[in-house]
Amino acid sequence: MRELADYRAEFPILEHTTYLINHSLGAMPADAEQRVLDYAQTWKTRGIRAWAEGWWDLPLTVGDQIGRIVGAPPGTTTMHQNVTIAEALILSCFRFDGDRRRIVYEEGNFPSVRYLYQAQAERGAEIVVVPEGESLVKAIDERTLLVPTTHVLFKTGEIQDVEAVAERARAVGAHVVLDAYQSAGTVPLDVTALGVSFAVGGSVKWLCGGPGAGWLYVRPDLVERLEPSLTGWQAHARPFGFEPEMEYAQGAARFLTGTPNVSALYAATAGYDLIEEVGVERIRARSVEQTALLVEQFDDAGFDLTGPRDPVRRGGTVTVRTPAFEAVHQELAAREILCDFRPDVGLRLGPHFFTTDDELRFAVEQITEIVGSGVEERATPTAARF
Ligand SMILES: Cc1ncc(COP(=O)(O)O)c(C=O)c1O
Repeated sequence: MRELADYRAEFPILEHTTYLINHSLGAMPADAEQRVLDYAQTWKTRGIRAWAEGWWDLPLTVGDQIGRIVGAPPGTTTMHQNVTIAEALILSCFRFDGDRRRIVYEEGNFPSVRYLYQAQAERGAEIVVVPEGESLVKAIDERTLLVPTTHVLFKTGEIQDVEAVAERARAVGAHVVLDAYQSAGTVPLDVTALGVSFAVGGSVKWLCGGPGAGWLYVRPDLVERLEPSLTGWQAHARPFGFEPEMEYAQGAARFLTGTPNVSALYAATAGYDLIEEVGVERIRARSVEQTALLVEQFDDAGFDLTGPRDPVRRGGTVTVRTPAFEAVHQELAAREILCDFRPDVGLRLGPHFFTTDDELRFAVEQITEIVGSGVEERATPTAARF
């Protein structure tokens, strides 16, 4: 087994940057560059033959690799552009004109997800928004059709009790749509054991796979019977028959749409390979050590932690409020220390398995120094971006 420190060589940005922003854009593995070149080479030399030599099936073969990371059996996971599209595919399988037409979700869902579900009011859905936690479980009843919920909240990095949500939904016959974007690749997840109807995520963050490679898991029994109305020729039983009427393919292929995002899928697997090789359990064990070290250091420095203190509830990100945190963020970036901030929680720091303890101590030292040297006077207003 390779030492975690060995993997630093796989991520070129670490040579000159303290990279603590893996909850936003995970560091790029060097091999991703090679895979993009392989894609171009294949396009250049194989031309049209590339479709039959793997390109056409990429949304399914790459989906199966994601499946191995999130506990989904082969043939249940497909690749799409992003989470928004994956959730729209799910929504397109349902109508909102019966007694069961409620969509119940927690406030802390990612905005894109919220916007999409809110828009279903136009289609007759009754939208119920509640605070996170117990209130969500309580709000799910026989009128509930869908429960879009997040495994790890994007703002605070808090791990939610998705088992309780899944159990309640199962008891009343509602479908859970689990957004695992902030967990896949850092917090262990087994969609089969959870029994959720659907799970979605992307590759930009902890999976280090870059943009354009969102994923959708559909529980095996639902894969066979749902018929998404957001559909296209890749979802047809015989796409190359070019038939005038739709006949859905068997299996996960029925959740596909049109021509796949081939270049993004080439790039993404370099990150997945590393995550599979290291293993999410090992990444989580290291992440718990790293976030505990950050919490200890921030406590010593006297800053306010805004995310969970309990390590069981803490995902891969630590959030902390310092004075003038927008300006602190800016000055950190000038020192090649990358993190981000969100207006109501302050700085967000997301180390990954390749981050050293020295880097974490260095980042906290620099934050303390920037705050202590009068950042508030130097601060000019900035808005959160990325
Ligand atoms: C929990 C969560 N869901 C979804 C997204 C993004 O969704 P999309 O892939 O549609 O951009 C993010 C972050 O970008 C996120 O943190």
